[in-house]
Amino acid sequence: MNETTETTERTAFFNGHFIPESELRLAPFDVGVRIGEFVFETVRTYGHRPHRLRDHMVRLYASMKALDIDCGMSIEEMEEATLELIERNRAAIEPYDDLMWNNDASRGIAKPFDPGPYDSYERTVFIVFIPLGASLVDALDGLENGIPVVIPPTRNIPARYLDPKMKNRNRIHYGKGMREAKRVDPRAEAVFLDDDGYLTEGGGANFLIVKDGAVISPQGRNILRGVTREDVRDLAPGLGLEFVEADIEPYDAMTADEAFLASTPFFVMPVTSIDGRPIGDGRPGPVVDSLIDAFAQQVGVHPVEQARKITQRYLDDRPKGSRPY
Ligand SMILES: Cc1ncc(COP(=O)(O)O)c(C=O)c1O
Repeated sequence: MNETTETTERTAFFNGHFIPESELRLAPFDVGVRIGEFVFETVRTYGHRPHRLRDHMVRLYASMKALDIDCGMSIEEMEEATLELIERNRAAIEPYDDLMWNNDASRGIAKPFDPGPYDSYERTVFIVFIPLGASLVDALDGLENGIPVVIPPTRNIPARYLDPKMKNRNRIHYGKGMREAKRVDPRAEAVFLDDDGYLTEGGGANFLIVKDGAVISPQGRNILRGVTREDVRDLAPGLGLEFVEADIEPYDAMTADEAFLASTPFFVMPVTSIDGRPIGDGRPGPVVDSLIDAFAQQVGVHPVEQARKITQRYLDDRPKGSRPY
């Protein structure tokens, strides 16, 4: 490894043990691998303090309940392990950077060639850090200039088949739709329609629009009910905005004043066009700006300025073209 790209090895958590990240191993017969039945959370810190950890853990345990997964840890034990891991990894990041991680759980390892319903022995539960810096470097252009959205031919899976309220890793349709969107426009993010032709969400973010002083989210029916979406819901009244849920058609998005994505890594990102048609004047708008400012006040870190700082740092320090981590 090149000296300048060397980083302190992070610690992960796997089935009750704290281990070096490089020792994480997943069994090929893990039910999560066999049928994609992993539930998970993506959580991050702001100013090195976990953001809405309890809300994420409540959602994780709800996802497990919906799939009859017992990870063998109480919610308090999971939180404790997460906090301990943050402590152990604090030294690996710069003061202006933050930590982001996944809490993952599956029902464990199935018997080889188990035809189902995948009785497992040994559960699988792990917590692993993911490089927030790298994701913010990638997000910076969108955060500053807005991103185009393309509605791909691949649609979201209706909740009656695979409920997106359970945050799960069964995401083949998202990967396929994202590739379809990028074929149209390499900068684009995909936002998926449901069976009825209403907009749902992106492959890793909720989608919301702004119209006449209201922030409008798709109904909680066919989407992951995002924690960041809850941040937006909480901030809206203080900014004189109503927060409503409604069925959103592509027409509503095209004729909105503003639109944005909401997700844990970056908070909110302006969407400036949909299928090639500009939203509003085609530039990031004042409501998204005011949400970001209000959020920054609350958590003590401005997510866009943080993304700028991290990007600048890597442009300054890293060999040309190298990835941040
Ligand atoms: C499909 C999907 N929708 C929405 C979100 C946003 O959820 P949150 O705000 O809890 O990060 C995510 C986050 O990864 C996601 O994967």
